[in-house]
Amino acid sequence: MATWNLTQMQRHLLICNGATCMGAGAEEVTQQIRDEIRAHHLDEQIHTSRTRCNGRCKDKCVVIEYPKGTWYSVQQEETARAIVHESVAEESIIYAMEHGERQRGETRIKGIDKYRKRKGPKKKAVLFVGHGSRLEAGNEEVRQFIEQTKEQIDPSLLVETCFLEFASPNIEDGIQLCIEKGADEVHVIPIILLHAGHSKLHIPAEIEEAKGLFPDIRFTYGQTIGIHDEVLDILKTRLAEVGFDVNQKHEETAILFIGRGSSDVDAKADFYTIREKLWEQVNVPILECAFIGVTTPTVQEGMERCIELGAKKIIMLPYFLFTGILMERMNRMAEQFKVDYPQTSIDIAGYFGYHPKLRTVLLERMNQALDGTSTGMQDLENFRRYVEKYGYEHTH
Ligand code: FES
Repeated sequence: MATWNLTQMQRHLLICNGATCMGAGAEEVTQQIRDEIRAHHLDEQIHTSRTRCNGRCKDKCVVIEYPKGTWYSVQQEETARAIVHESVAEESIIYAMEHGERQRGETRIKGIDKYRKRKGPKKKAVLFVGHGSRLEAGNEEVRQFIEQTKEQIDPSLLVETCFLEFASPNIEDGIQLCIEKGADEVHVIPIILLHAGHSKLHIPAEIEEAKGLFPDIRFTYGQTIGIHDEVLDILKTRLAEVGFDVNQKHEETAILFIGRGSSDVDAKADFYTIREKLWEQVNVPILECAFIGVTTPTVQEGMERCIELGAKKIIMLPYFLFTGILMERMNRMAEQFKVDYPQTSIDIAGYFGYHPKLRTVLLERMNQALDGTSTGMQDLENFRRYVEKYGYEHTH
């Protein structure tokens, strides 16, 4: 590593390269500041360093200037370059020192007090984690569903919703929100159908990071929806909605059970187990599995297989929790199949979705987390072991 002669240095810029800031463009900010310094021949006077998280992630990307003691929030190149010339607009200042006192910018949130004086019983928060969709309608479905679920939850519990990706708040912000509202315990409950990468790695990674940031807060982790009797009931409801009588024998009907697809063996095995259990409860000669991505058989292959096996009627049964791009694609596929296979009657059932019975499963998962019987705690332990063995690059 370099050892610079810093005797001419007048200003030191600390550029946050923590995970959240990096996710918000801190690398570009670092390069823009360094480029501006170089272009104005200020290398001797201004020194820059990359740092890890500075504890003001909401203000990403964070840049700190010493000895002045100003903290900046950089969201555009103009601000990055203005820091070099000490001409940053007021709204981009997080903290400024005035008469020896630290002043917070008007638009900046207060943040969590490091020392929290506690009186009375511990406040518990339940944080539901949805996957998040590029289609806002899908995210709204989750929010509405949890809003209605609140009616069945002890009102002394704080209930919040966050998302893994594509929607806000993300998990980190969701945890922070719970703590800002006074939670001493945060019980993180994934709204995820099958146990794979998101529930095994991504959510545990967020919880483990939060544990490091908030050592006084107790975290627990709920298990995924997985294999549950209610899941089978919901699937049967979706079939009934397209006119399939679950109590009748359907000699020439095939059900094509369609999942998102995962490379995770547990997720795949669970999906096939659900298919087996469903098959025990519906009287059809053919119940094939297919996946819309990642793994095979594809939906096209599944459809061809049903036809080869002699199906005269095929019901596509999507095992998706929310509407979104994939559901739209599935509907388009169903239309195309109708054109391609005119001899076969093809229907598409509604996606699994936020059926009221799903609430029963989620509340069960929540109670398991609250009373310490959730297998999610083992998932956290497994994640820690995984990190010891393979490491883990944390990204948001
Ligand atoms: S990652 Fe930059 S302040 Fe947290």
